[in-house]
Amino acid sequence: MRVGVLNGVNLDVLARRDPSLYGGLSLAELESRIYEWSKELELTTRCRQTNNEGQFVDWCHDALDWADGVILNPGAWTHYSYAIRDAVELFTVPVLEVHLSDILNREEFRRHSVLSDLATKRFIGKGPDGYREALEYLVEAGTAA
Ligand code: DQA
Repeated sequence: MRVGVLNGVNLDVLARRDPSLYGGLSLAELESRIYEWSKELELTTRCRQTNNEGQFVDWCHDALDWADGVILNPGAWTHYSYAIRDAVELFTVPVLEVHLSDILNREEFRRHSVLSDLATKRFIGKGPDGYREALEYLVEAGTAA
């Protein structure tokens, strides 16, 4: 099973962001955990990160051709990017929305996600473990199919 993990804007500087919200892990550390979990779960995973909205959209389009499931953390774009929403709408495979922090209990503007109704499942406020749970979800969904 091939999995695309797309992290969006400002996730490249994860280690510099508020550790009480984001845990203090760097993106490289997060991605290496994701690769380790993927190996254990026998998933073929490709992680990507960009600060460019158009690039994020292009990578969604690219994943349409090969991914059996996608895990998306678009960062702040989550709350307002209809361009990313339109791209995500094209997926016919499971789309899992992940947020490290608990966006439902932070500032008002973070409570709304333009992707939430498109997501097969959401993993919110679980830190890096949200990505692990999303990978596990894909394995379970794949086995059941
Ligand atoms: C985030 C939450 C967003 O509100 C924020 O803009 C981010 C990261 C999270 O993983 O908790 O950049 O998606």
